[in-house]
Amino acid sequence: MKLSRSCMVGLLASGLLGASSLYLWAADSRQWKSLEKDGLHDPENPALKVMQPPGAALRLLPPDSAGNLVNWVKALRDRYINPRTNLYETTQVRILDSDILMKRTAEMPYVLFPHRAHTEWLDCSNCHEKLFKSQAGTTPVNMLAILQGQYCGQCHGAVSFPLTECNRCHSVPRSSVGVPQTAK
Ligand code: HEC
Ligand code: HEC
Ligand code: HEC
Repeated sequence: MKLSRSCMVGLLASGLLGASSLYLWAADSRQWKSLEKDGLHDPENPALKVMQPPGAALRLLPPDSAGNLVNWVKALRDRYINPRTNLYETTQVRILDSDILMKRTAEMPYVLFPHRAHTEWLDCSNCHEKLFKSQAGTTPVNMLAILQGQYCGQCHGAVSFPLTECNRCHSVPRSSVGVPQTAK
């Protein structure tokens, strides 16, 4: 199985955090790699010196325990950030406030996919109709494909929280029968 690089980094990071988070969490103990050491930037590039170190910017944002250690949905909702929604005036911003309950999860809790938390950042065309069909239950999503970078894995583990955070997606207990699809 081919795990994406960022997914591997995510796995590593959350393993390390798991061990240390208990006693370090009270104070903001979040640590970010310097640009020279993040494996993404060329450490030889002299321009790195003029760039802001990640920790200087990210420390001001609400904490998370995985990925780049920022809860981005909270950062947006609580107005820590106010990103521009469109480049062109003619672009129509569409926000959809409906959740999809995905039940093919074997023994795991069901997955609740929230449209709102996605459409606050992403236009529908990022997902429909190529990644997902606009009809609940019709896309053949499964965990192996996700771990290989398809479906949810196109973004999660790459630009959004990593796949090690099982319970962020698998958030609805199987015992809760008859959960309304719009529950949240
Ligand atoms: C980004 C969201 C997301 C994360 C994170 C996630 N899953 Fe899933 N998982 C899904 C979706 C979506 C499905 C398919 C649900 C459907 O089609 O009804 C799924 C399906 C599954 C299934 C069902 C069997 C299969 O092969 O599809 C298992 C088991 C599973 N996940 C385990 C896990 C475990 C363990 C983790 C953490 C290591 C995890 N998942 C993390 C979204 C996620
Ligand atoms: C981040 C990905 C993503 C974005 C962005 C997104 N959707 Fe979806 N949408 C999904 C997924 C996943 C499903 C469930 C597909 C499945 O179960 O096969 C879904 C299902 C739907 C459905 C079917 C609902 C039902 O109950 O059958 C409609 C309609 C829909 N989306 C419309 C939209 C519209 C309109 C937008 C933009 C405002 C949008 N979606 C943005 C991922 C997305
Ligand atoms: C096109 C990119 C993209 C795809 C595809 C995608 N997501 Fe996301 N997702 C995001 C972004 C961006 C965020 C917000 C940033 C973050 O939380 O890391 C997010 C956030 C979330 C959240 C957190 C909501 C909250 O209130 O904190 C959940 C849960 C989630 N996604 C589940 C899923 C599931 C399940 C799938 C597949 C069915 C999926 N996502 C597919 C980009 C995507």
